[in-house]
Amino acid sequence: MRVLSVVGARPQFVKLAPISTAMQGRIEHIVVHTGQHYDELMSDVFFRDLGIPAPDVNLAIGSGKHGEQTGAMIRDLEPVFERFAPDWVLAYGDTNSTLAAAVTAVKLHQPLAHLEAGLRSFNRRMPEEHNRVLTDHAADLCLAPTQGALERLAVEGLGDRSVLVGDVMTDVLYSTRDAAGAPSLPDGVNAGEYYVSTIHRPDNTDSPERLAAIVAQLASLDRPVLLLVHPRLAGIAAQSGLELAQGSIRPIAPLPYPQLVAAVQGSAGVITDSGGLQKEAFLLRVPCTTIRSETEWVETVALGWNVLVDENLGELAAAVRRPAPHPTDEQPYGDGRAAARVVDALLTLHPGR
Ligand code: UD1
Repeated sequence: MRVLSVVGARPQFVKLAPISTAMQGRIEHIVVHTGQHYDELMSDVFFRDLGIPAPDVNLAIGSGKHGEQTGAMIRDLEPVFERFAPDWVLAYGDTNSTLAAAVTAVKLHQPLAHLEAGLRSFNRRMPEEHNRVLTDHAADLCLAPTQGALERLAVEGLGDRSVLVGDVMTDVLYSTRDAAGAPSLPDGVNAGEYYVSTIHRPDNTDSPERLAAIVAQLASLDRPVLLLVHPRLAGIAAQSGLELAQGSIRPIAPLPYPQLVAAVQGSAGVITDSGGLQKEAFLLRVPCTTIRSETEWVETVALGWNVLVDENLGELAAAVRRPAPHPTDEQPYGDGRAAARVVDALLTLHPGR
């Protein structure tokens, strides 16, 4: 069987790593990189550190407005899908690269599987919400990471094409955490005495007033804040003359994955608007405060490890300093063996069989 994976953005490279390993010797695997992320620290470093073979094809699409970027991907994916004629196209998560892969596959009548299916924020301002809903409904096989996601797919009439596999981010997080020779913490911080923060969602970065208010809150926190600066944030801050190195904030470049895991594990808390980081904090049992009005990763909130702060940013400092949550053994994101279940599902549930 031949599977063609389409990835393009940082979190998709992380998800690709355990899938790529699990496919070895069982499935012929073609990897296509759309080029949505292209900086060394946003792309190449993940392939290197996570031992992922170089992509078979890199479309080098780069940045652009949503329609322009997604349209260019569809145009350039089509001949690649025709050339490789895969048994499955595998799309990951909820980025514009995901939607482009989905549209291209259905137009060519190629079977489509969606990894991380069934998640919903119910916030229709988020481009990711449209990307994931459209991809789920286009897919022939929805690979759900959680029981809640599986139930949501059934509610939307997709139950007969859905299967619970667990979350592949748990696989990669556990194997990175447990690897020998853990990387050291970033310079200038001591274990347990700093926070890790990322801010990159358009809802938080694109209004200068809101971004300045978030930065002011981070600057006023009681411990150093390692702010891992996404290129979107760097660009917007530079454009609007907003100084990120204020008060407690220590801005640094985005971290490679093993360094990120070490930095989160050694921190006193995470403050973010990233989906992946909310879950990574939970899996490492580090309290998280999320600057959004809702989350797809509702289990992190229900179990007390994640608190949402949105409209009233003045609540951020108190939320970050809240008492430690109750310990829990719950594993809503699986047991770290999701990728093998994905491969089993692809091998056994092909629509042609
Ligand atoms: C994308 C995904 C988001 C995911 C995030 C992870 C969509 C709609 N959004 O958001 O779901 O959480 O990736 O990081 O697909 N840029 C660079 N170098 C790069 C990549 C981007 O400088 O390698 C800059 C460009 O100015 C670009 C901006 O960052 O315009 C935004 O990049 P883009 O890929 O459009 O979206 P992200 O915000 O990264």
